Amino acid sequence: PEAITVQELANRMAEKGADLVKALFKMGMPVTINATIDQDTAELLVTEFGHNIQRVSDADIDLVETEADADETLQPRAPVVTIMGHVDHGKTSLLDALRGTDVVRGEAGGITQHIGAYQVTLKDKSKITFLDTPGHEAFTEMRARGADVTDIVVLVVAADDGLMPQTIEAINHTKAAGVPMIVAINKVDKHEANPQRIRERLLEHNVQVEEMGGETQDVEVSALKKIGLDTLVEKIQLQAELLELRANPDREAEGTVIEAKLDKGRGPVATILVNRGTLRVGDVFVVGAESGKVRALVNDKGMQLKEAGPSVPVEVLGLSGVPMAGDPLQVVESEARAREVAAYRAGVIQQKRTTNTPASLESMFSALK
Ligand code: GTP
Ligand code: MG
Repeated sequence: PEAITVQELANRMAEKGADLVKALFKMGMPVTINATIDQDTAELLVTEFGHNIQRVSDADIDLVETEADADETLQPRAPVVTIMGHVDHGKTSLLDALRGTDVVRGEAGGITQHIGAYQVTLKDKSKITFLDTPGHEAFTEMRARGADVTDIVVLVVAADDGLMPQTIEAINHTKAAGVPMIVAINKVDKHEANPQRIRERLLEHNVQVEEMGGETQDVEVSALKKIGLDTLVEKIQLQAELLELRANPDREAEGTVIEAKLDKGRGPVATILVNRGTLRVGDVFVVGAESGKVRALVNDKGMQLKEAGPSVPVEVLGLSGVPMAGDPLQVVESEARAREVAAYRAGVIQQKRTTNTPASLESMFSALK
């Protein structure tokens, strides 16, 4: 079985090493802080301190505590919408058109940056966050890694083309994720467009839109001619209302990497979607197997922010390296702690690569509150 030092275990439990030594003494084990204890003893200690054991599995290399927020701390947050669909069916065009409905964009006057996620502020001041995922692989990959950030999927289907392989894939992924879907039947400006045929074809894939007696919402749009955009936005808002999306903004931030890159001038940059809490300049964090301190937060309009709350996508500068899409970001109390967690995760990843045996991973564990 795996072994761990008392100090290491204390760190993971966010407890004082001395307290663990004391508890071990009471359990009849007089040991020092640097002593190695076996897994069973460690588990016993963890339970003794009122923490839960969480074994680290392949998809879950996480040892920062993540307790649920109390109901009274929750506040409404913007929905996170992912646009999916077959190649050339107009995903990017639709995103661009929806961006055009942003009332803040014009005022900002900044140069529009392409970041993989952006937020639109509507006339009624409500907001919608859109994820510009490059493809289904990214969506599936993120889900496989436990990063379920999407609240609603908008499936784009070109009315002049029909259901294509990637449309069907997108339907399946969305169903597997249990995420509500809105079908945007695009390119209705084209004379060969046949929206009704799309609705019929969707039935074959068990997607029953309202007009066909089902519950899935659909809307005819033209990204090119800007037709149906308001209706699409309304349907997204309606769906979001049903979901009653809420998060606690008043806590250390947790987020998810949407994309990350090494920028020539700025170093490692990650686009983070804040899931809960508020991320601030100066915050110390761990993100995947990297750590850092927020040097700057930049939104999709190229504006520097002091802070970003739930459902807000931001570029984060000040990382030690480039994390992976889907990696969780968590604000922690100290840089030492951030580096330690990052190093631990890097170690697990390394071990996974070298041994490639899930069993050895399972035998590692972390303590969560
Ligand atoms: P990929 O990113 O390659 O998967 O494509 P996409 O789904 O993002 O499609 P994109 O927005 O790039 O649009 C593909 C082509 O369809 C472009 O030439 C667009 O101008 C055209 N297009 C998109 N929306 C419409 C529309 O509503 N009407 C018409 N007529 N053309 C459209
Ligand atoms: Mg595109």
